[in-house]
Formats: sequence, C-alpha cells, structure tokens
Amino acid sequence: ANQTFEGDGIIKVWPPGCAMFAEYRNYADRVRRLAVREDDVWVVTYPKSGTTWMQEMVWLLVNNLDYKTARSILQTERSPYLEIGCWVTEAARTKANIGDSVREVEMLKSPRCIKTHLPLQMLPEQLWTVRPKIIYVARDAKDVAVSYYHHHRLFFGYAGSSEDFFEALLAEIVPYGSVWDHILDFWKLRHEPNVMFTTYEEMKKDLPGVVKQTADFLNCTLNSEEMKQLCDHLSFESMKNNPSVSHEIEVAKLRGMQTNINGEIQPFMRKGEVGSWKQDITPEIEKKINLYTKMKLADTDYVLPFTK
Ligand code: A3P
Repeated sequence: ANQTFEGDGIIKVWPPGCAMFAEYRNYADRVRRLAVREDDVWVVTYPKSGTTWMQEMVWLLVNNLDYKTARSILQTERSPYLEIGCWVTEAARTKANIGDSVREVEMLKSPRCIKTHLPLQMLPEQLWTVRPKIIYVARDAKDVAVSYYHHHRLFFGYAGSSEDFFEALLAEIVPYGSVWDHILDFWKLRHEPNVMFTTYEEMKKDLPGVVKQTADFLNCTLNSEEMKQLCDHLSFESMKNNPSVSHEIEVAKLRGMQTNINGEIQPFMRKGEVGSWKQDITPEIEKKINLYTKMKLADTDYVLPFTK
C-alpha cells in the first residue's frame, strides 16, 4: 500500500537496468530454468498493452472456442501470469490466498497459454531452443503510461501524483523497466516463424484482422459466424462486464475492497481507447515522453502505430 517509486520495493535485477520488485529474487532462477513445451503459447507484453485482451483471444482459439469454460473459470487460472507472485510480498500473497504462479504454470495441462511481462533477457532460456509460439503485443508509450498509473492505484493504492509516476516511467524505475526497450527487443524478432508481433492500436483498428492473423498463426480456422461471435466476446463492453476477465475479483481479493469501483479509482477495464492519454498527460510530460520515444526509436525501424 502507498507504494511510491522512490526505491521502496524495487530493485535492479536482471538484466542490469531492468527494475523489478525485490521479491523477484525468489523467481528469477526458477523462471530462467522453466521447462518450456513446444505446444505452449506465450503472450508477452509490457504491462498495460492489451495483454488480457490478447490472452482471451488466444485461450479461446487454442481451446476450440469454449465460451462456457472461458466464462466460468477466471482467465488468471486458464492463462496464468508467470511471475505474478513477485508483485507482492510472500506474506501478502499468503494472506490474499494467491498461489505460487511459477508452480501453477509448471502444473498446467498442455497446451498451456502463458502470460508474462518479462523482458526478453529475463525469459526462460528454453524459449529460444524449444521455440513455442510467442505473441507479442505493443502499445503506444503514452497510453501505457496512463494505464499503468491507474493500475498501480487500483491494485496497490499508489499514492503519488500522476506526474511522479510518469517521471518514474521515463526514468525506467517502474516494474519491468523501459517500455521501449521491451518492445524493441521483440520487434527485432518479429520475422521469426514462431513469433507474431502486433499492437493494441491494430487490435482497436481491425480486431477481425488481428483475430484472423492470430488464428492463422495458431493454425486455427474460423468461419464467419465464429469470427463474429469471437469479436463480440472480445469487445470492450463484453469484457468489461465479464468477471472472468475484468479482474474485479482479483482486485477485491488483493485489496479487500468492494468490487464496484468508482470515483477516484478506475477499474481495470478502464477506457479501452487509443489516445485517451490526452486527457491525463500535461503538455510538459507529453513533450518529455515524445523526446524519450524519439531517443529510444532513433536508429531503429520501428513504425509507430496509429496513435495520432
Ligand atoms: P486502459 O487502461 O487504457 O483502458 P493489460 O491487459 O495489458 O493490463 O491492458 C489493460 C488495458 O487494455 C486497459 O487499458 C484496458 O481497458 C484495455 N483493454 C482490455 N480489454 C480490452 C478490450 N476488449 N478492448 C479494448 N481495450 C481493452
């Protein structure tokens, strides 16, 4: 609670320069040594980039569009978040009855749909030898910044100002460090046959197109009726009203709050828009993020998605 970004709880681990919670010490080696399976599907993102959205699509494609199970079992169980345990201390984890996420991934039946926010260098070594399918979703840094700020308020009672949070993001001392380094490492891998790279903005612009691309990548075929039903299930309104994916239950479990969040604290399914940062970022911070982005993207061929 009352987390700030003046160093409490955050430590630089691996690779040098990537900020992570101190608790990650208990995960780093186990994650690196994790046994990867050929039929795994990994959804890798920097936080707040549309992970939950993509995970739901992937899980349904991999599981023959089993909407009944998708609605009745929490996504966090169907498609576990590999290193989630490092967000809280072991004591808090026990209190909130949150299991050991690495163990849960190890115990999961194949084909596993695994979520992680870890940057490339911190991922299991076997990913690069076993080469399962990896889907990477990137999102514009300004929308990520605002969404991440609200995420910290919602889950951890972050008490700092939004400006302080944005400065921390630019200083790369928020969990998972640099948003652009994270994205660029996977951008470079986008032509690998086992890697699919897409963006939140592309999903917003053309969801059926991304569903088709993902289905092709996972060797699934959908007829037009199935496509329509899946896109309906994945719409923002539908996901916002679906407790299996809206994270209301998890927030309540962690914070002991009413699930009906309103007022100051915004829900996990917050706005679901491209460019909503304009309402939350001052011109001064906007300039700083633009400069940061320009610096990070210099000498790369990264194409900024449709964020104008
Ligand atoms: P906002 O906070 O900008 O609304 P992640 O799952 O990686 O944590 O990303 C969360 C962000 O994705 C939130 O962004 C959330 O609203 C948005 N999101 C989740 N499901 C979505 C959907 N079906 N359509 C559009 N945006 C969605």
